[in-house]
Amino acid sequence: MNACPNCGRENAAEAKFCSDCGTRLAAERTGAREERKIVSVVFADLVGFTARSEKLDPEDVRAIQTPYFQRVRAEIEGCGGTVEKFIGDAVMGVFGAPVAHGDDPERAVRAALAIRDGVAELSGGASELDLQVRVAVNTGEAIVALDADMAQGEGLIAGDVVNTASRLQGLAPVNGVLVGEETYRATKSIVEYEAVEAVSLKGKSSPVPAWLALSASAPPGERRAKRQPFVGRNHELGLLQRIWDQSVAEQRPHVVTVFGPAGIGKSRLAAEFSETVNESGGKAIRGRSVPYGETATYGAFTQHVKQIAHIFDSDLTAEAWTKLRDATAELVGESDSAEVAEHIGSLIGLETEASIAGREELFYSARRLIEGLARRQPALLVFEDVHWADAGTLDLLEALASRLRDVPLVIFALARPELLERKPSWGGGLPGYTALPLEPLGEPQARELAERLLADTGLEPEAIVGTAEGNPLFIEELAAAVSEQGGDGTGNLPTSIRAIVAARLDSLPSDERSVLLDASVVGKIFWRAALAEMGSGGERLSQLLDSLEARDFVRREAVSRLRGEQQFSFKHELIRDIAYATLPRPARRDRHATVAKFLEASTPELAAASSALAHHWREAGEPVRAADQLAVAGDQAGRGWAKDEAVTFYREALACLPEDERERRRAITRRIAVALQAVMHVADAELLGRRAGPAPAADQS
Ligand SMILES: Nc1ncnc2c1ncn2[C@@H]1O[C@H](COP(=O)(O)OP(=O)(O)OP(=O)(O)O)[C@@H](O)[C@H]1O
Ligand SMILES: [Mg+2]
Repeated sequence: MNACPNCGRENAAEAKFCSDCGTRLAAERTGAREERKIVSVVFADLVGFTARSEKLDPEDVRAIQTPYFQRVRAEIEGCGGTVEKFIGDAVMGVFGAPVAHGDDPERAVRAALAIRDGVAELSGGASELDLQVRVAVNTGEAIVALDADMAQGEGLIAGDVVNTASRLQGLAPVNGVLVGEETYRATKSIVEYEAVEAVSLKGKSSPVPAWLALSASAPPGERRAKRQPFVGRNHELGLLQRIWDQSVAEQRPHVVTVFGPAGIGKSRLAAEFSETVNESGGKAIRGRSVPYGETATYGAFTQHVKQIAHIFDSDLTAEAWTKLRDATAELVGESDSAEVAEHIGSLIGLETEASIAGREELFYSARRLIEGLARRQPALLVFEDVHWADAGTLDLLEALASRLRDVPLVIFALARPELLERKPSWGGGLPGYTALPLEPLGEPQARELAERLLADTGLEPEAIVGTAEGNPLFIEELAAAVSEQGGDGTGNLPTSIRAIVAARLDSLPSDERSVLLDASVVGKIFWRAALAEMGSGGERLSQLLDSLEARDFVRREAVSRLRGEQQFSFKHELIRDIAYATLPRPARRDRHATVAKFLEASTPELAAASSALAHHWREAGEPVRAADQLAVAGDQAGRGWAKDEAVTFYREALACLPEDERERRRAITRRIAVALQAVMHVADAELLGRRAGPAPAADQS
């Protein structure tokens, strides 16, 4: 038998596709590793080229196709995607697998827009090319073959998401980019869209909503500022204010690194504080590093310089030079400003004839410029997204931080914790340095934010506050999701949150990652010994758990529900959910069976474990054993006079049992009848009690 990785259906061993959902079935290859992931697929195809190429010499066809294929590949890879295959003149690119970046739908749409523009450019440059494309992007869950050898034509991903992408592509307007619903939702704050009529796709019963992507309205990696009132963070703002005041009073530079995961509010905190600085007569300038698509080094510093000298990207080189020289003369004094300007110009990539000085000299000039700026007016220099910074920017930042002297200047570096993996020594040895870890919002602040976001909908913030665990971005995303789709915020998570967490999981070393995936099967709470039973992590299990704890994915708990077994819990329910969703169904099934056996062995006398056991047996594909456990859980509840609950357990048990389990079904049905009888008695007794006046205090418990 061959289980479908998508829907779990058992298919004949020789079947190549699932008879239920059509997913391609894995060849019976031993050790083939698969995972479920949210991916974005880009399809691009030339319009009318097949007809045209029939009239052309094969050499000419090649001469046209080659630059086209090269361009499409360059655009996909430039945004961090993988070219999965070429089918005729069509190209399929994948984002989010094998490794998720956290913003894959956005990357895919940017690549698609770049393909559209790139092909137009190719055609504009050489009239014999005269090419037109249709492009589509679609996002959804896929099965990813982790060991696929694409050079051998093996597919990286399979699933409905691919077919839909290809069908959308066929319906895209000429030189247009059409996207599906998930893609639209995940990128609508960053990309301009035009709504189009829902399209009918082969194999879909109802029309599928679609949008036409026009252009990207914010730079890569940046989310558009949302103007919700700022909540909380008083402690952090107070600390920053003290650092600022001290730097101004003592003319002493200070560096603050704000650390925190995606969406926790680093940029927002910096923006709020920048406003305070500007209002108090200081000058805040901001530069940021981007995750992809920009090859220029010193990117963030370049943006700083351009703001200082009022240079626009659209300025001609000569104009930019003039502005830079003027600004430098003003800030560092006339005498050697020409040289400083020359150095800064080459740092920020302005074309120059002059011989290039050594890096130390360039950095020294950068320092002169910044010192000049701060001497004129206290300055706040914000470096955003330092975890993405190029090596040059990191070196420059360290050089500035360690050498700037005697000026009122605060440097703000904002980074996700990954920065410390790239640069473990970050901040070490600096004279004035503060690391400021940004924690999740407290419960009252989270609630306040959720209430405001839901104000127009009349929905309750509870579920959102519970799920988002203090991350303001998650609160925003969940609020948007529930107000658009209804529901309570606990169902399907918006793609963007899943993507952020999935990207964190993907960046783990593979042995740690697989321990985490195994643990997700046990539950939000898990035990070392349960993992050991699965063979998870082998000899190094303890070490890997230590490391996962250090990375803040899991926590070791002081007390354990199982005697003598070290208990852990996932830091975040979201992490567990997404890790679990990543495992393909057959892999889950085996692990659930192991957990069930483990629990049976370690909790023989514990009836309270029976509902957990029932869950694991059910997911292990053993409904009869699940039913037996549910019956035990029902008996247990019944003994505690929770008769309603007992009935619920028995009914679940019945639902698990196949028709031919007549004996068991009869036994359960009998117990339901008895429990129902008791429920009525309880109600009668209560009624009698009320009629008879207040019951004695001892009976009220
Ligand atoms: N204290 C707050 N009050 C209200 N909204 C907030 C607060 N903090 C953050 N937000 C909002 O939450 C969202 C995410 O915040 P922000 O962009 O600052 O996160 P970040 O830490 O910079 O993430 P990244 O690492 O992805 O850059 C933004 O829309 C922001 O406006
Ligand atoms: Mg940010």
